[in-house]
Amino acid sequence: MIVVGCISGTSVDGIDVAVAELDGAADGRLLLRPLGAHTHSWSPATREALLALLPPATTTAAEVCRLDVVAGREIAEAVASAIDDFAGGSADLVVSHGQTVHHWVDGTTAHGGLQLGQPAAIVERTGLPVVSDVRSRDIAAGGQGAPLAGTLDLLLLRGLSRAGALLNLGGIANVSVASPSGVAAFDTGPANCLIDAAVSAATSGTQRYDADGRLAAAGTIDAQLLERLLAEPYYALPAPKSTGRELFTTDYLASYECDVELADLVATLTELTAVTVADALRPYGVTDVYGSGGGVRNPVLMDRLAIHLAPARLTTSDALGLPVDDKEGYLMALIGYLTWHGIPGVLTGPDGRALTGAATPRVLGRISPGDKPLRLPEPGVTPRSLRVVD
Ligand SMILES: Nc1ncnc2c1ncn2[C@@H]1O[C@H](COP(=O)(O)OP(=O)(O)O)[C@@H](O)[C@H]1O
Ligand SMILES: [Mg+2]
Repeated sequence: MIVVGCISGTSVDGIDVAVAELDGAADGRLLLRPLGAHTHSWSPATREALLALLPPATTTAAEVCRLDVVAGREIAEAVASAIDDFAGGSADLVVSHGQTVHHWVDGTTAHGGLQLGQPAAIVERTGLPVVSDVRSRDIAAGGQGAPLAGTLDLLLLRGLSRAGALLNLGGIANVSVASPSGVAAFDTGPANCLIDAAVSAATSGTQRYDADGRLAAAGTIDAQLLERLLAEPYYALPAPKSTGRELFTTDYLASYECDVELADLVATLTELTAVTVADALRPYGVTDVYGSGGGVRNPVLMDRLAIHLAPARLTTSDALGLPVDDKEGYLMALIGYLTWHGIPGVLTGPDGRALTGAATPRVLGRISPGDKPLRLPEPGVTPRSLRVVD
């Protein structure tokens, strides 16, 4: 079946849409054929309004309602153009993650989360059934609801019979690990969100990120500040764990009273990401790390990561068949395919619990019917592996 997956990550930079043909075999081998993907920018007004909603800001129910509708309409346009561009105008299912505006966690306990982007707008625009709200069921079962990337990443590694770790460098960094020392999927901490916040604040929003790592390259790491930042308790929590911009807020750095030049601050925050990712992966002894997400476009971040991860080799998810910018869109397509077939969207960990920490893996999401009567297929087989095919 042809599934359109879409998500806007914690960076709130755009709606990633990917179209995939997915086919499951009775023996548990799942095939994913990427048909194409693009990132559809949020309109500047919507982006500003979404960012203005994030903690530590306060908001109103009226603004949450308005943005749910407006975001839903923009996602609907992004989905419709992807169906035209990559699927010849027709698809079977849409999976929309929406924009996370709150991830409610307390230590290693997740209580809930809220994603905006009304699925009804997508149904109205495309006529297709839409799977949305993909995190809540896992959280209700005691899981983190995040990161969900472990499902795609680990099935992909199994399909290639490889050990290793996948690392997504979005606003937050998450890893999926399969090694002789363990299997896990968790958020390590910030990837780009603190860098973006520092650059935006210092330039009054004229620059939103450290383009090509130029500031970090010009700066010097402030060892004392780095040490203070590394004392953040989140890094020492055991997996499974997840985090977001509720902890790493735009004014997170203000509490550190760091009176350093912007370039030095950005160099230090870039190092913070590299060190926290490498520290999180070290116990697993992986030999290969495959990066994805916008952070792989930052050469300083990639250089520092390569240094701290050594002797493990750092490449990108392209080496596994999934382009760095498109992996999260394809992840959503996979999650929706699983839901449609009544299959849990999270894998089982070594202890029998879901990798997210839920009691057992659950079927994720809510289904909004499309224009045709909703007819679900017979439940499918839980996949053992996934292969990306041309
Ligand atoms: N050329 C680049 N140089 C440095 N950083 C970049 C570059 N391109 C993208 N980024 C970083 O990647 C982020 C977006 O990554 P993305 O994977 O879309 O994150 P998310 O999943 O949170 O939306 C940007 O906010 C920016 O920090
Ligand atoms: Mg993004």
